[in-house]
Amino acid sequence: MSEPLRLIDTHAHLALGQFDADREAAIVRASEAGVARIVEIGYDLPSSHAAIALATAHPQIFAVVGIQPNHVHELPAGWEAELRALCAHPKVVAVGEIGLDYHWMQGPPAAQEQLFRAQLALAQALALPVVIHSREAHADALRVLGDAARGQPGIMHSFSGDWAYAEACLELGLMLSFSGPLTFPKAVELHEVARRAPLERLLTETDSPYLSPHPQRGQRNEPARVRLVAERLAALREQPLETVAAQVWANAERIFGLKP
Ligand code: NI
Repeated sequence: MSEPLRLIDTHAHLALGQFDADREAAIVRASEAGVARIVEIGYDLPSSHAAIALATAHPQIFAVVGIQPNHVHELPAGWEAELRALCAHPKVVAVGEIGLDYHWMQGPPAAQEQLFRAQLALAQALALPVVIHSREAHADALRVLGDAARGQPGIMHSFSGDWAYAEACLELGLMLSFSGPLTFPKAVELHEVARRAPLERLLTETDSPYLSPHPQRGQRNEPARVRLVAERLAALREQPLETVAAQVWANAERIFGLKP
């Protein structure tokens, strides 16, 4: 007898308006698909409060709180004290998502870096892992992490990049979290990373409502679809889904400090 499959979506934004019509139904669909845990991610202070509210209402949901670089231009006064207070909630398992985004460029790189470093330091002080967002900013993300967060437990969320970048992230001690793009037939660089990286360093996520996997690309995404990411990961590694899912589950427990 094998244990039932347990999947985890380590990065979702269920609090967004895209789920206003069917949030609770989406959470039920995830459970029915074997997605036994969901990590809800904040990107500013209101969404961090919302993540905690969702986590409080659902035993299988955990919260990550932080300010994403696309909100660097609207930092409220006293944000750091408020974020620190949110981190004390028992269902908060990491600081995030934090990092650099040179695609939307909502603030100058120096301001983004300052916000990123402040939150890395906060996480370090509180002994929490970090969830990192890096978009079109890989070189600077590696530089900041290399001198401010070497060995600090962290996750490169929705990993995108080639094997050289993956190796650099692994060398820093980070975990790599795959999302929908892993399932895209033409994502050959990601496929190589999925084959070569140690399974003990990999996670699965949806980034719902974004990045819906193949063959539902372009639709609103939801946590149930993390199964498609896990299946693709298993197929690429030529390992049974059960093996991959069990290791990813254990990896998430380890980095987030979840109780079995
Ligand atoms: Ni996100």
